Amino acid sequence: MRKVIFDTDPGVDDAIALALLTARPELELIGVTTVLGNADIETVTRNALFLKDRFGFSAPVAQGSGVTLLGKHGAHARHVHGDNALGGIELPQTPAGPLDGRRGHRMMIDLIRANPGEVTIIAVGRLTNLARALDKDRDIARLVHSVVVMGGAFGTHGHTGNVSPVAEANIAGDPDAADAVFTAHWPVTIVGLDVTQEVVLDSAMLDRLDAAGGETGKLLHAITRDYLGFHQRSRKLDGIFAHDCLAVAYVVDPTLFTTREGPVRVICGGLASGQTIQKPDRPPFPTTAWDPHPAQTVCIDVDAAGMLALLEDSLSPPAPPPLR
Ligand code: BDR
Ligand code: CA
Repeated sequence: MRKVIFDTDPGVDDAIALALLTARPELELIGVTTVLGNADIETVTRNALFLKDRFGFSAPVAQGSGVTLLGKHGAHARHVHGDNALGGIELPQTPAGPLDGRRGHRMMIDLIRANPGEVTIIAVGRLTNLARALDKDRDIARLVHSVVVMGGAFGTHGHTGNVSPVAEANIAGDPDAADAVFTAHWPVTIVGLDVTQEVVLDSAMLDRLDAAGGETGKLLHAITRDYLGFHQRSRKLDGIFAHDCLAVAYVVDPTLFTTREGPVRVICGGLASGQTIQKPDRPPFPTTAWDPHPAQTVCIDVDAAGMLALLEDSLSPPAPPPLR
C-alpha cells in the first residue's frame, strides 16, 4: 500500500485521475492539496471538495497556493476545462465538506513528516505547493518516498508543448517552482506530453464508463463533454488526453512506461519560458547549469493500450456473477 498526496487543480483530467487513484487498492490517499491552474484557487478547491464528496474518500483537502512562486495570478484554462473547470456541469454553490485549516504546503509537510519514507506526491498541476514546501522544510526531500509529476514536454514523438511551441501548461504556469522541484534532491519522475499525448481516451470508452462505471462513470462522462469538444475541434480527435491519469498509472504500474535518466532544468522567462530540458547523456560538455543537480526520471514512451486497460478496468466494476 503506497501513501499518496495528490496535488491538483481540478480540472477535468484531474478528476479522472482522482477517480483512478481512489479506485486502486494499492494506493492510500492521505491528503489532497490544491493549486491554481485550470481555474482560480477558490474554484479548484471547491471542485476538490466536490470530488471528495462524490468519490467518498476521507483524506483531508487543503487549499494551496493561489499565486505562483513569484506572486503572479496567471491565465486559466477556461476554453479547455470550462468556466468552473469541471466541464460546466452544475455544481453546488457551497463547498461539499470541510476544508482542512492548514495551507496546502503546510499539510504536505505535516503528512510527509508523519509518514517518513512512505509518501509519494503525485503532482498534476503547477508545482508551486511543492516548491513552497521545500522552501519551508528542505528535509522533506529525504523523507518522501518519491514525487511523480504530470508536466513538461521533452520532444519525444514530436510533443514539445501545449501552451507554447516549447512549453506544457503546468510547467509554463510556474516555471520557477518547477525548476526548484526538478533540481531538488528527491526522486522525481516526470510524466509529460511525450507520453500523455500518446494515449487517447476515446469517446466510445467514455460512453462505456457512463454505462458501466456507476455514479463515478456517469460523472466523468458528464464533465468530459466540453473537454471532448475541445479535443475534437483543436486536435481532430474523437477522444481526449487524460494527462493527469498517467501520473497515477505510473505509480500503479511503472512497467507501462519507458524512461530515461538525467538532470532536468526549466527555462524561466523569455520566449521559451516553461521549456523543460533534460541533459543528454552524451559527453563531452563543458560544465553546465545541469551538472550539480540530481538525475531525474523522464517518461519517453508508454504502452497506450495497457494504460487504457488499467483505467477502464479500475473504473468499471466487474459484472456481478450470473444468478444460478
Ligand atoms: C495539464 O494542464 C492542465 O490543464 C491539465 O489538468 C494537466 O494537468 C496538461 O498540460
Ligand atoms: Ca491538472
